[in-house]
Amino acid sequence: LDSAAPEKPKPKQRYPGESKGFVEEMRFVAMKLHTKDQAKEGGKEADVQPVAKWEPTITGYIRFLVDSKKVYDTMESIVAKATHPSYELFRNTGLERSERLAKDLEWFESQGHTIPEPGPAGTSYADFLTELSEKNVPAFICHFYNVYFAHSAGGRFIGKRVAEMILDGRELEFYKWDGELPELLAAVKSNLNKVAEGWTREEKNLCLEETESSFKYSGKILRTIIS
Ligand code: HEM
Repeated sequence: LDSAAPEKPKPKQRYPGESKGFVEEMRFVAMKLHTKDQAKEGGKEADVQPVAKWEPTITGYIRFLVDSKKVYDTMESIVAKATHPSYELFRNTGLERSERLAKDLEWFESQGHTIPEPGPAGTSYADFLTELSEKNVPAFICHFYNVYFAHSAGGRFIGKRVAEMILDGRELEFYKWDGELPELLAAVKSNLNKVAEGWTREEKNLCLEETESSFKYSGKILRTIIS
């Protein structure tokens, strides 16, 4: 009888990237959310408006920098306050962007441009992050990872293109780091993996599922470049 047969052990579920640590799992989910024209590993159809066809304007780009600053200010004050002990590991990582963005905006102002208040793309993301950071650590960590790592990858590529098109190739502070970027990223990766080691599989999944929201918010901010 079936009931007498020994129960087969359930196969352990595997998640892509799992063997290399949790950051690799986050990276896998993020790469799939790129369109094929954005990154080789992209899992979505090409964008109707690929970056290669973007026609950036200075005012749009300033709006993007202002909204980005709002998000980085918020991220950096959340980890500074560290309402949850896990956030303490992400202070002074060398990836911080707030002060550099302040310098870039000062430069634009010195060139006669008006610096606006943050727009809805930046403020809505900032408000969302503030609330999330208090009530859902794994979900907040997903945003932290995506915000800083996206900027170090696709963000730099976009910045270079925009600078060539409208800034005479000027390299902004936003795209410079003290020290070697790969080393800074590796140190943060190791701490992200460390934090996630203390999570249940449910918490890990909750974090991975947040990637889509991260793309939505950051995607809106990126699009201010062409607004
Ligand atoms: C990595 C492009 C938007 C998150 C990358 C890479 C490229 C890229 C070329 C590097 C892939 C590689 O390692 O070979 C772009 C472009 C975008 C865009 C062109 C928009 C037009 C986003 C957004 C997010 C994001 C909105 C999330 C908020 C990431 C992450 C990585 C990545 C987490 C992995 C970085 C790493 O491996 O350290 N992106 N991306 N990207 N992107 Fe994007």
